[in-house]
Amino acid sequence: MPYLKAVLRETMRVYPTAAQLSRILDKDVIIRGYRIPAKTVIGANVWLMGQDPANFPDPLEFRPERWIREENEQFYGFKSLPFGYGPRMCIGKTAS
Ligand code: HEM
Repeated sequence: MPYLKAVLRETMRVYPTAAQLSRILDKDVIIRGYRIPAKTVIGANVWLMGQDPANFPDPLEFRPERWIREENEQFYGFKSLPFGYGPRMCIGKTAS
């Protein structure tokens, strides 16, 4: 079963159901030195996160083993967010 879960996570890395997460800022925020004013629409490109070799070495390879913690020094949790994150994240995630 852990391997099946890893296959699902890898599938969602390569083919995320929602390619982008969007939010409208309710207050000014500073992200990596950039000040972004309130009411700006911002997007996190989930597909791009999953394709970035800085996040996932050899991103074009379908490799479920990436997600099995015992076999990997690095855990990729926040580098792929197929269900979003925070108060408006997917309510279906708890079943995963
Ligand atoms: C593989 C299955 C699914 C994926 C990949 C998925 C993905 C997502 C994503 C990316 C969001 C936006 C989260 C955000 O903006 O942070 C979302 C929202 C949502 N999903 Fe899913 N979803 C899945 C299954 C489900 C299921 C089974 C249900 C219902 C039983 C569900 C109900 C919802 C609802 C109600 C929202 C809106 C939550 C809100 O705006 O507060 N999803 N989903």
